[in-house]
Amino acid sequence: MRPAIIFGTRPEIIKLSPVIRAFIKNDIQPILIHTGQHYDYEMSSIFLEELELPEIDYHLEVGSGTQAEQTGIAMIKIEKVLMNEVPDVSIVQGDTNTVLAGALASVKLLIPVAHVEAGLRSFDRTMPEEINRILADHSSEVLFAPTLEAKKNLEREGIRENVFVVGNTIVDAVLQNSKIAEKKSKILSELGLEPKSYILVTAHRKENVDNKDRLKKLVDILTSLPMQVVYPVHPRAEKRLKEFGLWDRLKSSGVMLLKPLGYLDFLKLEKNAFIVMTDSGGIQEEAIILNVPCLTLRYNTERPETVKAGGNILVGVEKDLALRYVKKLIEDEAFYKRMASAKNPFGDGRSGERIVSILMTLWESGRLKVKTSNFITPQKA
Ligand code: UD1
Ligand code: UDP
Repeated sequence: MRPAIIFGTRPEIIKLSPVIRAFIKNDIQPILIHTGQHYDYEMSSIFLEELELPEIDYHLEVGSGTQAEQTGIAMIKIEKVLMNEVPDVSIVQGDTNTVLAGALASVKLLIPVAHVEAGLRSFDRTMPEEINRILADHSSEVLFAPTLEAKKNLEREGIRENVFVVGNTIVDAVLQNSKIAEKKSKILSELGLEPKSYILVTAHRKENVDNKDRLKKLVDILTSLPMQVVYPVHPRAEKRLKEFGLWDRLKSSGVMLLKPLGYLDFLKLEKNAFIVMTDSGGIQEEAIILNVPCLTLRYNTERPETVKAGGNILVGVEKDLALRYVKKLIEDEAFYKRMASAKNPFGDGRSGERIVSILMTLWESGRLKVKTSNFITPQKA
């Protein structure tokens, strides 16, 4: 089998690394296509190095742009590679513009698409990610749903064939890397932080940082927290914080503003945080895997399993609500323990292996194909 793996952003590199490893273990070298949606060293290459991934076959250097520019340019460049390589399957992961471009370019060339992390829904169509997820799922032949809930979302939209509940590859990535991080990363001593003495924050989502009022509300929360705040800042957020004149306010309030971190340093910081506050999808998942309570700086989540399990609470950018929960977590030990011991709903860390094994079985039995129909609609004579 000749699979192509198409990716382009930080979370895709992290979450596809277990799939790439599983292919290599089975003596299959996937064709690696990096769109270049993320291009800064600390948003891309650092992960390729730390996760010891093989050389990328195609660097497409798509870069930044409007939604349509980025997606369109990625589609054009991906199509050229696919026409040249004609892989047996294109594998995409998650909900970025790279995913949409990869899925559309592939299915239109009749190359079957396998979507990893299929079936997530926030039910908020104002998010670019929601549109990407829906369209990628409906372009896919094979859908790897992380949970039963995700599978049910697909069923509701009429997608029932070739849906496999395999867990989320983020568990594989966390388990494969947190021991290495524990040993290798010196981030706590470098920053002078004691375990469980700080709140780890990340915020980068378009709906939070591109809107001045909303970002101001977020900054109001971060500058009022009763504990040291550590915030590795995504480039989108840095740009907006500076543009809206909020960067200096955060800095002078004592918030530790850092460049985006590599995976090993980030995992170490995350595992040792008192709590995390985030709008990231992947970090909501990692927090429950690492037994760290999570307050999500959003009004909805496509990871409702984390909320149902009791490890995650949505606080939006509501200052009173957020501060009330932070205070409760500090003062009420039983409440803290309950959140921290919530059960990880994303599987056992063998999702990468399962995905590869299912794809190989489908391919060997000739079922890895874009479906055609021989059904003739009855017509009146
Ligand atoms: C994208 C995904 C989002 C995901 C995030 C992961 C979409 C629609 N959004 O958002 O779902 O959570 O990746 O981190 O695909 N920039 C740099 N250097 C880089 C990359 C980006 O400076 O290496 C800056 C540019 O100013 C760019 C902005 O960040 O315009 C946004 O980047 P983009 O890739 O469009 O979206 P993300 O916010 O990263
Ligand atoms: N991450 C990282 N360094 C950072 C921030 C995040 O390595 O400074 C990792 C984090 O551990 C998680 C992933 O990046 O695995 C999440 O990516 P991001 O928040 O950018 O995207 P999302 O998951 O929201 O799509």
